[in-house]
Amino acid sequence: MRSLAGFAAGLLGAGQLAQAVQVQLLYQFPDAKQSIENIAIRRNGELLLTTFDDGQLYALDPLAKDPEPRVVVKVPDATGLTGIVEIEEDMFAVSCGINNLTDASMVEGSAKLVAIDFNKATDGVTPTVRTFAKIPNTQMLNGMAPLPHIGSTLMSADSNKEAKRFSLGINGIKFSLVWMYFTNSDRRLFGRVQIDEFGNRKGEVEEIVRLPASSGLMPDDFSMFYNGTAFVAAHPNSVLKILPDGTWTVLVGGDSAVKLNEPTSTALTQDGKTLYVVTGGGAGGKGGQVVAVTL
Ligand SMILES: *[C@@H]1O[C@H](CO)[C@@H](O)[C@H](O)[C@H]1NC(C)=O
Ligand SMILES: *[C@@H]1O[C@H](CO)[C@@H](O)[C@H](O)[C@H]1NC(C)=O
Repeated sequence: MRSLAGFAAGLLGAGQLAQAVQVQLLYQFPDAKQSIENIAIRRNGELLLTTFDDGQLYALDPLAKDPEPRVVVKVPDATGLTGIVEIEEDMFAVSCGINNLTDASMVEGSAKLVAIDFNKATDGVTPTVRTFAKIPNTQMLNGMAPLPHIGSTLMSADSNKEAKRFSLGINGIKFSLVWMYFTNSDRRLFGRVQIDEFGNRKGEVEEIVRLPASSGLMPDDFSMFYNGTAFVAAHPNSVLKILPDGTWTVLVGGDSAVKLNEPTSTALTQDGKTLYVVTGGGAGGKGGQVVAVTL
């Protein structure tokens, strides 16, 4: 019998059986310092990977026979790239800064947002990089998303702001209708809060899923399909599927044939059929992974 890659039986969830999914390792960086933090999908299908590898943004063609990443740009005056989101056709905002190597934060004053624009790629592949905002009063810009009604306004989580050093609070954010959905890593929480059109909080924070401490799972960034289903990367080795009613299952877990090593984020294709997962890596001295999950 083919191994039940990713079959996790929903043991930790609401008693539901997760369906078996196919999990394929597309690429793994050779060096532990090549940690992948986040992912976006270009309209041509190419994956963009933000990393803690000396400020380098990588691209990977997931449909290539043996996918090999290429360096798209090295962002000047940054060592760590975190959130990434498409803000105009083939133009991406990336949050970044200089990593403080003694803890999980960025060096005070180094946080900024850059626009990476493929439309102006004179050679067809190398985009322009432009800093459009410096955000000195933050410690760790992380997940990022444009407001649904004012696309020119980006919201970003500052993961360290209220958290202790070496810990992360709000991690990923996504908007759907009047809601801002988020993960809070420290609190093992997936929740939402109602916002107005300008992004101001309008209601109480609602907990959708609080993972039991006994699960050992810590949510990181996530993607959300238009039907309201969320796919949450969870440390140390899992991807969770959370339905709008809060039912959750382990889509890929510790018993998967492809072992995920510290999942950090996910991205879903437009058709909702393939989920790309990226990881921080580190085990065995190796770096981040790019994994395709066929839903
Ligand atoms: C790096 O983090 C340490 C420990 O939290 C802190 O004492 C130090 O000031 C930080 N360094 C910089 C350059 O921000
Ligand atoms: C929503 O779409 C996702 C992605 O295709 C799928 O896995 C999920 O089951 C769907 N949810 C519902 C409630 O139909």
